[in-house]
Amino acid sequence: MERPKIMRGEKISLAIILKEDKDKWFLWINDRNIQSFLNDGARIHLREEFDEIYEMSKKNKQKMVDFAIVDNTNGELIGFVGLQGINWVSRHAMVWYVIAKEHWGKGYASEALSLLCKFAFENMNLNKLWARVYEPNKASQRVLEKNGFKFVGRLRKHVYLPEFGYVDELHYDLLREDNKGGVGFSFSGCWL
Ligand SMILES: CC(C)(COP(=O)(O)OP(=O)(O)OC[C@H]1O[C@@H](n2cnc3c(N)ncnc32)[C@H](O)[C@@H]1OP(=O)(O)O)[C@@H](O)C(=O)NCCC(=O)NCCS
Repeated sequence: MERPKIMRGEKISLAIILKEDKDKWFLWINDRNIQSFLNDGARIHLREEFDEIYEMSKKNKQKMVDFAIVDNTNGELIGFVGLQGINWVSRHAMVWYVIAKEHWGKGYASEALSLLCKFAFENMNLNKLWARVYEPNKASQRVLEKNGFKFVGRLRKHVYLPEFGYVDELHYDLLREDNKGGVGFSFSGCWL
């Protein structure tokens, strides 16, 4: 099935998640390199539980929005990015993102977050985005900072990660009026 693209950046696009993406998502979400920094190192997702969460997320579109991240050169699925806990009264949501390990360090997450921010502020008319990130996750902090997110607070020794022990949880946010378009490329003409 052809995958509808929603927003196009320089290297990657945000696109609709297809049913067949579930298998890759299931593998990545159980990859300790990814899971430890998303939730904690102890979380294990059984296939049945994962399928339930997946189906629930498809039905819960009022509270969350998810996109596939695809490579512009060959259409390969390289990650996921999304909003969770959308609050339509206070107009804020939490951002999250995952890139397959073999594609780390190519600027994909930074660009995907930049497109997601544009979608959230312009299409969804949200007022604030926020993120939580564990202290050792320097790459994720850099992705947020490159997109104009500001560090706003710290929960000390909040999470236990097997490789690091107890670590701080850092909170970042980005107000709509401070969104300058992220990693420094022009958005004009990025719509498909
Ligand atoms: C965090 C994650 C999404 C980053 O994806 P990515 O596509 O590699 O990110 P980018 O290439 O866009 O940017 C990474 C930035 O972090 C920097 N970086 C990477 N490791 C770093 C480290 N140990 N210390 C400091 N900076 C680091 C890179 O140099 C780059 O910055 P630059 O562009 O200024 O050079 C990816 O590592 C991932 O999926 N991790 C597991 C899931 C996760 O942590 N999600 C976020 C939860 S808050």
